[in-house]
Amino acid sequence: MQKDPIKKDIINILAISGSLRINSSNTSIVNFIGSLMPTHCKYFIYNELGDLPHFNDAAEIPAIVNRFHQQVTEADGVLICTPEYAFGVPGVLKNAIDWAVGLGSFDRKPVAMISAGTGADKAHASLLLTLQAINADVKDAALNIPFVRSKMNDGKITDETTLKAVQNLVDIFLKNIIASREAAY
Ligand SMILES: Cc1cc2nc3c(=O)[nH]c(=O)nc-3n(C[C@H](O)[C@H](O)[C@H](O)COP(=O)(O)O)c2cc1C
Repeated sequence: MQKDPIKKDIINILAISGSLRINSSNTSIVNFIGSLMPTHCKYFIYNELGDLPHFNDAAEIPAIVNRFHQQVTEADGVLICTPEYAFGVPGVLKNAIDWAVGLGSFDRKPVAMISAGTGADKAHASLLLTLQAINADVKDAALNIPFVRSKMNDGKITDETTLKAVQNLVDIFLKNIIASREAAY
């Protein structure tokens, strides 16, 4: 059988939770998705979201921002899980994305996004629009999980329908990454 080098290659994924809360559902989802990834995927969780300085249109890019840019650039795909605060995307997440705009970090980058909260549909729509603005490659890799706390237990997704939807999102995301690699050849 012919070996498919693209499918066998290591895939690097950077995962970002838009919540800084201890026991965050979104951070739990990020961790949980890491456990669903096939063995040829290397899964990194971004851990400096809360340390990024407030965005300003500065000529000088802080080292921590350059590090964020580098991590996004080196990833084959980025997964973002976010709650909704006051009908919008959390400030810390929007702040990180604002820094990435000028650097072009997300340009044509395969991105999967999950919005999870009480409703989180407005943050969902808002983040999709922002990802479109920065030319991220989302395609169908977007999922809204309302009433998230009733669908999880002990950091794991326990609701069967949600579990299937998350697995489906992961499958689409990995296909998008492979398609993006193939297009780059
Ligand atoms: C200040 C604040 C504002 C919130 N606003 C919304 C909102 O507009 N829409 C929504 O669906 N949930 C809202 N929520 C509920 C969060 O979505 C919910 O707490 C969620 O579990 C937070 O995500 P996390 O568990 O990952 O921290 C709000 C929560 C807080 C603390």
